Amino acid sequence: MTETTTIQEELQARALRALAGGVSSNTRLLNPHLIVDRAEGARLWDVDGTEYIDYLLGQGPNFLGYAPPRVVEKLAAAQKDGIIYAATHRREIEAAERVLSILSWAETMRFGSSSSEMVQAAMRIARQATGRRYIVRFHGHYHGWFDNIQIQSVDGVAGPGSLGQVPDALDPTITISWNDPAAFQKLIQERGDEIAGVIMEPMMLNAGAIEPRPGYLETVRELTAKHGIVLIFDETISGFRVGLGGAAERFGVFPDLAVYGKAMAAGWPCAALVGKRDLFTEVATGRLTHAGTFNGNVVATTAVLASLDELEDRSAYSRIEQVGSELMRGLGELASQHGLPLKIQGLPMAFHLRFDEENDVVTSYDQILALDASRYSAFARRLIESGVWVAYRGIWYVSAAHTSFDVDETLQRIEPVVAAAAQNL
Ligand SMILES: Cc1ncc(COP(=O)(O)O)c(C=O)c1O
Repeated sequence: MTETTTIQEELQARALRALAGGVSSNTRLLNPHLIVDRAEGARLWDVDGTEYIDYLLGQGPNFLGYAPPRVVEKLAAAQKDGIIYAATHRREIEAAERVLSILSWAETMRFGSSSSEMVQAAMRIARQATGRRYIVRFHGHYHGWFDNIQIQSVDGVAGPGSLGQVPDALDPTITISWNDPAAFQKLIQERGDEIAGVIMEPMMLNAGAIEPRPGYLETVRELTAKHGIVLIFDETISGFRVGLGGAAERFGVFPDLAVYGKAMAAGWPCAALVGKRDLFTEVATGRLTHAGTFNGNVVATTAVLASLDELEDRSAYSRIEQVGSELMRGLGELASQHGLPLKIQGLPMAFHLRFDEENDVVTSYDQILALDASRYSAFARRLIESGVWVAYRGIWYVSAAHTSFDVDETLQRIEPVVAAAAQNL
């Protein structure tokens, strides 16, 4: 090591040796240069002491901000009772009851540790309940990294998304364009009797922030009900974020099953599959396997309860709407002052930025695929270097810990980056 080696560089070298690619999840591969020391509220600090205002929220979970004091206190107390018993416990029952009381359309549920696995359970239930084989899913929607669901769409064709993936694991899925009612109607007309389930992000958030077109979710709901198909909403990002009742409540369309994670448990690994009681009949008998050593553990379910304590009166949502709107507006003003084709789209709690000369608003994944993603990721890199921690893929999350003061400071940090980007047009 030379004298100028920073703590960050030293730890990064160690990370690269000890962890494949220096990370524990491939979604972090793009950010290997940042080794985090700690985080609090809306800010995090790297090991060299540099401070960042955070709009990534750990890929979404820290919806209450980092280390929210009341949540931390409840978690510390709960873990003194032990963490996992291989048996049901009081907090688990209470957490399930609270989740179901919020999601009024749902009747029963199971907890899990990640959304990837809850998606697997949802597909298994849909296939068992209908006796059919196919799951319909949509280009650009992410449902976890497992063989039977991870895709990469090239020229409108969905293929395996990873090396080592069994290609025919995707065979019992059909991938079509989302937000296109005609495409959905055509598929259901032609193959409705073969389809077990339809899984979607009810608002596309993983690869862009696209709201459903008016009437789209209603059309999908009506046709799936008519053909006995299980409608599954993957609310991993939207759940407990775009409103207490998630996208289902926000858009007024209710599925048969839904997956929740991220914002539900204030940063703790906890996911849920909720839905209609009859769909869980064989889960309850044990003939349909859903399992997991860590499911519903004391800390995770305490995190759900503590999180809902903060969210249930809904005042956090109006604060986030206000602060997030200020940020969206401020970013828009900066872009137009400097003549930068930076487009901002989505909701105040989860929006998307992109460089786009063509469209003010995008309504399809094809329009996102057509963009030069490298231009935004270079911009994101500059933002991070200026103390604003964001994802390279364009999503910005706002938490209950962000304030107008954070927004003002963020815009100050961003202004020179926008000005420099405008110079290079
Ligand atoms: C919509 C959606 N579904 C599923 C997943 C997978 O969740 P997990 O990483 O908890 O397995 C994600 C993760 O980002 C997601 O955004």
